[in-house]
Amino acid sequence: MNAPDVAGLRFGDWMKAVQARTEDGLDAFLPPAATAPARLHEAMRYTTLGGGKRVRPLLAHAAGELFGADPDAVLRAACAVEMIHVYSLVHDDMPCMDDDALRRGKPTVHVAYDEATALLVGDALQAQAFETLAGAATVAPQRHVTMLRLLAQAAGSAGMCGGQAIDLDSVGFKLTLEQLERMHQLKTGAMLRVSIILGALAGRDLDANEYDALSAYARAIGLAFQVVDDVLDATEDSATLGKTAGKDAAANKPTYVSILGLEESRALAEQLRQQAHEALAPFGEQALRLRELADLIVQRKA
Ligand code: IPE
Ligand code: IPE
Ligand code: MG
Ligand code: MG
Ligand code: MG
Repeated sequence: MNAPDVAGLRFGDWMKAVQARTEDGLDAFLPPAATAPARLHEAMRYTTLGGGKRVRPLLAHAAGELFGADPDAVLRAACAVEMIHVYSLVHDDMPCMDDDALRRGKPTVHVAYDEATALLVGDALQAQAFETLAGAATVAPQRHVTMLRLLAQAAGSAGMCGGQAIDLDSVGFKLTLEQLERMHQLKTGAMLRVSIILGALAGRDLDANEYDALSAYARAIGLAFQVVDDVLDATEDSATLGKTAGKDAAANKPTYVSILGLEESRALAEQLRQQAHEALAPFGEQALRLRELADLIVQRKA
């Protein structure tokens, strides 16, 4: 796939270009709907294509541009993290987890299809993610294996799945701020962080200082993202969010809003935005896209 030259674009246009490229990549990497088993493939495409903000692919591309990534490698990394993210949403919405009927403005997979299909869509998207990243033929073998390992760690019990387990175990409990931060860093932060690191590694090896700076940035925006998600759940309506609003309080979930209140949560998100900017200082002007993405993550309304 040919990559358009996006370096000189204004942020809004850059975002649209990367989102379109991600959409094309996902379309190409997912099995065709007509290929058997058609219902499963159709459901994978139903939930993955045509929706979502594509924040993780945007982060991967921004980091990729910073580290001179090969376009095919960064696109594969971006699509792989988005596939894992979509799988996590499909399972998160199932009756055994958050029991949500609306996602990205459409009926959730278990509603539009059925529960067994939703389970399999998640399983298959996770496998497809690793196959997609494994196909990045331009990445040096050792770095390629590192990328696959980091994605597995971010998705698994030391990352997103672990955070989801804590989330479910915490219903009805009043967590401390430290426990809440840990849960958010795992369930949301881990996949955001790996999006950035994979984007960078699609370019070249990182030295320790670069790795630390990107990790500090990722830590700040990872937490900010879920703090803002908690705020939006409490303040926006379902039509704006494209998912059921007010679910956290209704389900008695521990959130930043339930522990800190709205104003302090908003202040924390702003503080994290500043921390993210500070973390990027070593990269200077080159890190413009990552700074713009930190602003987007904190200032978004959906
Ligand atoms: C929602 O993620 C789930 C969380 C991790 C908070 P996004 O807000 O990125 O959802 P989409 O991808 O835009 O639908
Ligand atoms: C889920 O967090 C994050 C993952 C899917 C890993 P939430 O349960 O808060 O996400 P939403 O609000 O349903 O999108
Ligand atoms: Mg959840
Ligand atoms: Mg949910
Ligand atoms: Mg939420």
